[in-house]
Amino acid sequence: MVKVTVVGAGNVGATCANVLACRGIAGEVVLIDIKEGFAEGKVLDMYQASALYDGGPRLTGVTNDYSKTAGSQVVVITSGLPRKPGMTREELIGVNAGIVKSVMENVLKHSPEAIVIVVSNPMDPMTYLALMSSGLDKHRVIGMGGALDSSRFKCYLSKALGGNIGDVDGMVIGGHGDTTMIPLVSKASYKGVPVSEFLSEEVLEKVAADTMVGGATLTGLLGTSAWYAPGAAAASVVEAIVKDQKKVIPSCVYLDGEYGQKDVCIGVPAVIGARGVEAIVEVALTDAEKAKFEASVAAVRKNIAVLHELKAL
Ligand code: 2OP
Repeated sequence: MVKVTVVGAGNVGATCANVLACRGIAGEVVLIDIKEGFAEGKVLDMYQASALYDGGPRLTGVTNDYSKTAGSQVVVITSGLPRKPGMTREELIGVNAGIVKSVMENVLKHSPEAIVIVVSNPMDPMTYLALMSSGLDKHRVIGMGGALDSSRFKCYLSKALGGNIGDVDGMVIGGHGDTTMIPLVSKASYKGVPVSEFLSEEVLEKVAADTMVGGATLTGLLGTSAWYAPGAAAASVVEAIVKDQKKVIPSCVYLDGEYGQKDVCIGVPAVIGARGVEAIVEVALTDAEKAKFEASVAAVRKNIAVLHELKAL
């Protein structure tokens, strides 16, 4: 039976756990939080809902007791503060770095074989921090930003096309930041046909721009950051691992020469399966996309430098 732990029972973590439960992705889901009774309460609600669909996994909610997470195959880290309207994800680095680091230690004490999915923001430097502070092999730490940003890209594309979202394909690479993500318009397709055959350059620019601020737009409306799409995106990465789907999911992964970059975690298409990151797919980028990717890497490196200044690394 596959056991999955979700750390952080806030909106994103609870949504992720609920998607895992409703869709029967894991046999056992543990939700853990530092706030007394919070994860227990969320899990009780999910458990009471499970009678309304066809069964569900074993669900456990715990406060701080990592021994209950022991033996997890996959762990999703959503801990830390979400951003508020007007804030960038990067502004969270100081407070979330300490949280992510200590969560990693606790998680690995009890699940030394786990594959870790990082959701906490700023997601790219947090993925790097999780990897470096733990000393895990690079294939075992995955940042989920690309799955979320690509989902947002497909939504805006399908809206512009007036077509079914299942017929749309598209991916977003680069950092998970409003100015650092790169919707790959040149590769996006509608039933296998390049979207540029259906949509003008102007419309495609608007789709890309809306995608980049997809999270910020929601934050402005809600007063806090999104959860349905981030939670579902994290669950989709869990699913690819536990079902060994070997799906190409744009993910924040450690680059060791791929795309001409070393020693950085950033979003690129990756094959996700039972071993975590099973391969990195190197797609040909246009010159403009290459330039954007380099700028995005530079921005993520700046945040990694901040982690060094904070002595988190
Ligand atoms: C978002 O983009 C939470 O970073 C996440 O909504």
